[in-house]
Formats: sequence, C-alpha cells, structure tokens
Amino acid sequence: MSLFHRKKEVSLPTERLLPQHIGIIMDGNGRWAKRRGLPRQAGHGYGARVFRTITKYCEKIGIRYVTVYAFSTENWRRPQEEVDAIMNLLRDYLRESLRDFQKENIRTRFIGEREALAPDIRALIEEAESSTAHKTGMVLNIALNYGGRDELVHAMRSLAEEVKAGRLSPEEIDETRISDRLYTAGQPDPDMILRPSGEYRLSNFMIWQAAYSEYVFQDILWPDYRQKDLDAALEEYARRNRRFGGI
Ligand code: FPP
Repeated sequence: MSLFHRKKEVSLPTERLLPQHIGIIMDGNGRWAKRRGLPRQAGHGYGARVFRTITKYCEKIGIRYVTVYAFSTENWRRPQEEVDAIMNLLRDYLRESLRDFQKENIRTRFIGEREALAPDIRALIEEAESSTAHKTGMVLNIALNYGGRDELVHAMRSLAEEVKAGRLSPEEIDETRISDRLYTAGQPDPDMILRPSGEYRLSNFMIWQAAYSEYVFQDILWPDYRQKDLDAALEEYARRNRRFGGI
C-alpha cells in the first residue's frame, strides 16, 4: 500500500512532502469516449464521477486545497450539445452536493467569470458556496468559465481603477497586490499541477499562480484516473527538489 493511502498512515517527513495545493486539468474525456464509440458527452459523465472520487480522496489524505479545471473561457467554442452536457453535469453535481454537504467538511468555491453562466447555475453556485463557507476542511475550487489571462485582465482593471481614483500609485503595484486581486486571493499557489491524458501544456490554467508549481503529466485519460494514479503523482512530487529560483 502506498505511503499516501490514508491520512493516519502518512509519516511526518512524508506529510511535509505532501503538496498543500493541487491543481488538476481533467483532460481526455473526449478521447476516452471516442475510443469506445461513445459521444464525447459520455466521457464528461465518467469524468464527473472521477472528479468526485479523486477530490474526496484528496480530502481524506490531507490535501488542503484542490483546484479543478471544469470549463475554460475557451470551451464555449465546443458544439452546443457538449457545452450543455457539461453544464448539466455541473447542475447535477451542485444539486447533489447541496443535498449532501453536511456529510463532508469540504469548502466549495468557484473561480471564473460568472456573468456568462445561466442564472440557475449562478444561484446554485452561490448556494453551494454559502452553505460550505464555514467548513474547515479542504478548499475545493472549481474553475468554471475560467481563464488565467481573463483573471489577470480583471486584476489589472481593478488596479487601474484604484490608480485612477488616486487610491494607489503605480509604484505600489507589486506581486502581492496582483495576487490579492485574483480569484484565488488568500490561498497558497498550487504546489503541483496534474495533467493526465498525455498533453503537455497549461492551457490558460492558473498561469500566474503556477509560476513555481511542479507539473506532473500522466499518460492516462481522466475517466480512467484512479487513486493509485494520484498516489503515483504524489510520490513523483515528493521526489522533486523545489528551489524557487534558489540553489
Ligand atoms: C477536458 O477533456 C474536459 C473538459 C473540458 C470538461 C471537464 C468536465 C468534467 C469532468 C465534468 C463536469 C465537472 C464537474 C466539476 C461536475 P476534453 O473534452 O478536452 O478531452 P479530449 O482532449 O480527449 O477531447
């Protein structure tokens, strides 16, 4: 059994090497479905199930923050049928988690631009956030209509407004002031970013926050992703020597 299998079994030095914040790019749903002769939406359905099991597992082993990439600002370009299917999976998940939120100690948050989302999804999101705001366990950020560049544009606009209003001088703009205007304000940057499916890119995911993240790319399609694959990623992370620009 892996060292990371249960919270209790993680020894102290290992716990030290456990990432505090994991970012996950849940990729490969479409290919998974295509290989089985199924519509792409079926892949997202399986992907949503894996999302539930993997995030619960993260909570169980003591990860403090998990951010999953559910829908990007670019994903609107997909066929309407596929966009609708992903939004329906989110509706199902939100309704289910509102029903079951007492069972878990997970604080759910959404990051991304909400204006473009359907009013019922926005209402469900607000309910999910407010009903879990008091939770003390893992923070789960769901990136929905999220883009790293879009997030930075919003942060820059907000800083520009402050400069225009005379509340801030350009010289006072620093990394902390930018981080404080991101959706993830107040949270640690991701220590590790996972991308299954054999693709080696960030795809506009947490581009500011990922400056010093360790990337772990795995050749597994997201619907096939299991706890053992996360264990392997954690073991890989624990072997990395993070230097943050030092030596
Ligand atoms: C990327 O795979 C996946 C997505 C764009 C959608 C992810 C959505 C879910 C897992 C379900 C809904 C989420 C929640 C939180 C309930 P892809 O379609 O780009 O795969 P491909 O590269 O094989 O085409």
